[in-house]
Amino acid sequence: MTIGSALSFKPAPEWLKTAAFYQIYPQSFKDTDGDGIGDINGIISKLDYLKWLGIDAIWLNPCFESSYQDAGYDVTDFYRVAKRYGTNGDLKRLFKEAHKRKMRVCLDLVAGHTSIDHPWFKASQAATRNELSDRYIWTNDSTVKPVKHVSGKFERNGTYRKNFFDCQPALNYGFGKPEPDQPWQLPVTAEGPQKTRKELIKIMDFWMTMGCDGFRVDMAPSLIKNDPDRVETNKLWAEIRNHFQQRFPEGILIAEWGNPARAIKAGFMMDFIIHLGNDGYSSLFFNKEGTYRHDTCYFNIEGNGTPTTFVNYYLEQLKNVGDSGYVCVPTANHDFQRPNCGTRNTEAQLRTVTTFLMTIPGVPLFYYGDEIGMKFTPGLPNKEGSQLTKGNRAGSRTPMQWDSSPKAGFSTADLDKFYLPIDSSTYRPNVESEMANPSSLLHFNRYLLQLRKQYPALGTHGAIHFLYAEANKYPLVYERSANGQRFVIVINPSGKSVQVYCPLSGTIKEFKPVLVDRASLIQVNNKLQIKADAVSYGIFRVIE
Ligand code: GLC
Repeated sequence: MTIGSALSFKPAPEWLKTAAFYQIYPQSFKDTDGDGIGDINGIISKLDYLKWLGIDAIWLNPCFESSYQDAGYDVTDFYRVAKRYGTNGDLKRLFKEAHKRKMRVCLDLVAGHTSIDHPWFKASQAATRNELSDRYIWTNDSTVKPVKHVSGKFERNGTYRKNFFDCQPALNYGFGKPEPDQPWQLPVTAEGPQKTRKELIKIMDFWMTMGCDGFRVDMAPSLIKNDPDRVETNKLWAEIRNHFQQRFPEGILIAEWGNPARAIKAGFMMDFIIHLGNDGYSSLFFNKEGTYRHDTCYFNIEGNGTPTTFVNYYLEQLKNVGDSGYVCVPTANHDFQRPNCGTRNTEAQLRTVTTFLMTIPGVPLFYYGDEIGMKFTPGLPNKEGSQLTKGNRAGSRTPMQWDSSPKAGFSTADLDKFYLPIDSSTYRPNVESEMANPSSLLHFNRYLLQLRKQYPALGTHGAIHFLYAEANKYPLVYERSANGQRFVIVINPSGKSVQVYCPLSGTIKEFKPVLVDRASLIQVNNKLQIKADAVSYGIFRVIE
């Protein structure tokens, strides 16, 4: 097996080329058993809706037995669906029902850690050596507490390494470069780390054999500790990808890495450009009122942001990834604010966000509820570890709004039993009303997904060329093209109307409006004149 080069992998399955994703936070999607928490049968009952929207694949946040100190990212049994969501049989039925509709379901694989309540951890902390003593990373002295180590009342003499919260002990995949004077740091080739690796593969095989279509891997780059240049981490994922593709040629591997070029080199097929690793995403969307707070961002009404941080990072990522995998710039996720947040709260503003996200290269992803414009709710209590030092994630995890009834069609439970309070705004968007209204945001977003399928130039693979992406300036203008088709897209999220010029060679017969609201393009000599009113957008087909 060769490693380190993306070229050594079999290509990702074809279906990923045209797929649109939807992320479901199971707690908050649809409750069918009346306990106020969403469940798998609820997801099954909404598959037809997702199909109608144009969704091809679902990523489901963790649905396994857990202590819920981090909303399911603290697993206590990797082989069992949590009771509150249903049974393994229900999940199997979800796979089947999705496949019937030509849709796929990817699970969340928390590969790097477990809950402190996992039986493996209980065995691992025992004083006498056993099969699981090396399943986690322990020092050999309870007075030794390197960074990210946690001490406590354990039978064995040591402190353990955590990955995120203290209750999430890191599984032991070994150290890339163990320090010679720290014998507790095992090399990746040691028996303990190798057994952890085998167990991870076993978990993946278990769900894939049941009908799962792939995984989003939580904190994917973090498995191997002290690993300069991630040499051993890359080898680990390369081994997993090769095994995985041999057994499940249609299966996909998505990273939570925050650096697609690196993730794809390691063996993943897709990775997100999000708040991790670089400011690109945050500089577009993080305003003063969300989970993470920034004074300026490009998509705000004040018009005081800059597009260049994102554009530079994004272009570099696209170039480095090439044809060997996919980037994904999602509308949001369970860790940070939604597009509807603070002063970015009108339908017109939300349309600028999705017009942008659905017309750039990469795999499109709607976080549940963003298709109807659900809002990030500030000021919620800490729910299952939603509170971080920097902000609260609960605001993006509120129940899905299905209809205009008092309980929004989410659950029949009493409102005080709801996983999180439902948006209490007088007008809160909901699926039923928006479906009935052809000019709603929901129909608009559905149409954007249709355009991507209709015109490859607007899709995952078409080329992008930024025509106007100036520091601290509006609007953002770019050209998309494929197979001789060309489109120009104008996005002005600011509250100011703007007029700019950029060079444009060749003679254009017409800029045919495809989906436009108060933006225009004309060719003046060898220049393109772009006018965009406050909070406007336009997708224009270039007719030569
Ligand atoms: C990832 C998840 C986040 C979780 C953390 C620890 O970043 O997206 O929700 O808290 O990993 O598992």
